[in-house]
Amino acid sequence: MKLRTSSGKRRTLLLSAATAGVVVAASIAVVGTAEAASTLGASAAQTGRYFGAAIAAGRLGDATYTRILNSEFNAVTPENEMKWDATEPARGSFNYNGGDRILNQGVAMGAKVRGHALLWHAQQPGWAQSLTGSTLRSAAINHVTQVATHYKGKIYAWDVVNEAFADGGSGARRDSNLQRTGNDWIEAAFRAARAADPNAKLCYNDYNTDGINAKSTGIYTMVRDFKSRGVPIDCVGFQSHLGTTIDSTYQANLQRFADLGVDVQITELDVQQGGNQANIYASVTRACLAVARCTGITVWGIRDSDSWRSDNPLLFDGSGNKKAAYTSVLNALNAGGNTNPTTPPVTPPVTTSPPPQTGSGCTATVSLNSWNGGYVATVRVTAGSSAVNGWTVNVTLPSGGAVTGTWSATNSGTTGTVSFRSVDYNRQVPAGGSTEFGFQGTGAGPGATPTCTVG
Ligand code: XIL
Repeated sequence: MKLRTSSGKRRTLLLSAATAGVVVAASIAVVGTAEAASTLGASAAQTGRYFGAAIAAGRLGDATYTRILNSEFNAVTPENEMKWDATEPARGSFNYNGGDRILNQGVAMGAKVRGHALLWHAQQPGWAQSLTGSTLRSAAINHVTQVATHYKGKIYAWDVVNEAFADGGSGARRDSNLQRTGNDWIEAAFRAARAADPNAKLCYNDYNTDGINAKSTGIYTMVRDFKSRGVPIDCVGFQSHLGTTIDSTYQANLQRFADLGVDVQITELDVQQGGNQANIYASVTRACLAVARCTGITVWGIRDSDSWRSDNPLLFDGSGNKKAAYTSVLNALNAGGNTNPTTPPVTPPVTTSPPPQTGSGCTATVSLNSWNGGYVATVRVTAGSSAVNGWTVNVTLPSGGAVTGTWSATNSGTTGTVSFRSVDYNRQVPAGGSTEFGFQGTGAGPGATPTCTVG
C-alpha cells in the first residue's frame, strides 16, 4: 500500500407562508430531550448528516462485518464494484452484479448510496486503457451515461470524476489518457451524468486535498469556474487518507469550497494508527460538523482487516471491536454541530416561480430551511428584461436574529437589514436569467420578500 502523505427525538413540521411575490417554506425541527446517540449513523443523523462506510460485496457474507455495517452506518460506498473495470469489462457490455449487490444492501439498510466512481485514470478496463482521442472520449461519455442511467434515482451522490489533479505544487491536471482527450473531459462527464440522473448529486473527488494547498486550490479554481459557467457540479469529495498529522487548514479548506455553493463530503477517511489516530479522527469529524454544507463522512472500510491499507487505519479492529478512534468519532458526533441545511425537509422546499418581470432591474425570492433557532436561506436573484451587471439584495431579519455565514455573495451587516452583494462570478445575470446565493442565520428567518437592486 502506498500511503499518500501529506435519541433525541425530533419532530419536523412544515410551515409555509405566502407573502406578496414569494412563498417561503420553512421546516422547523423541534428537538426534544437531547440524548447521545449510540451509533455513528444515528448520531450523524442528529445534525442531518450521514456516516458511511465503503463496503465490498465479497464481505457481505461475513456475519461480524454485516452486523457492524447494519448497526453503525447509514451510508455505503462500493469499494470497487461500480468502477469502470467492474461495470464495463468489455466495451459496450455492462455488468452490474457487484454494484447491484452494494445498492441492494444500502437499500435494505435504508442507507444513502454513494456511487464511486464513473471516470478515473485507475481501474480502467484494459480496452479503455488502449483507446485515445475521440474514440476514448466517446467511450468514456457513453460509460457515464450508461452507468448513471442504470442507477438512476438510486444514488445519493456520484463521484463523477475521481483524482484528476496532479500531486505537488503545480495545481494542474494529472496527465492521463482521459486528460489527453481534451481539458473539457471533466465537464463533459458532469453534463452527461446530469442528463442521465438529474437527482443524483454530482461530485468531484480527490486525495491530498486535506488542507489549503496547491492541489486543492487547483480543484477549487475548477469548481469556481464550473459554477460560473453553469457546469452541473453539486459536491466535492475529500478522500482524507491521512497519516499521523492533520493540516491546520483542514476545516478552512472545506469551508472555502462550501462557500462556492457546493456540498462537501469526507469520502474515504482512514487514518494511520500509531500516531494520533483517535484525535485525528475526531478533528476530521468536528471539521465536518462545523461546516454547514459538509453533508457526511465515509470511512474507507469497516475493520482494520478490511482496509486497503496495512496500518490499521479504521474504527474497528480485525475482530470487530470498537477502537479508541471509534469512541472519539462518536463523542465528536454527539457533541453536535452546525445543523446541516441540505437535509431535505419533510416536504421539499416550495420553490417560487420568478415573479412577473415588469421591466429592467432585478427581483429576489427566498426559500428557508429552518430548525429551532436557526435556518439556511437560499435566495434566487432574477434579472428583469435587461441583463444585470452586479446586484445587491437587501434582506430584513427579525430582531434578535443574525447572519452567521454567507456563500456566493458578500454581506455588509449581520443584523436588521442586511445587504448581500454579488461576487465576481455571479455578478452578471442575463436578461430573464437567475443566480443563487445563500446565508445561514440564527433566530427565525426573514419574513418579507427581499428587495433587489442593480449595480
Ligand atoms: C481502492 C480500494 O480500496 C482497493 O480495494 C483497490 O484495490 C484499489 O482502490 N482512492 C479511491 C478509491 O478513490 O477508489 C481507492 O480504493 C483508494 C484510493
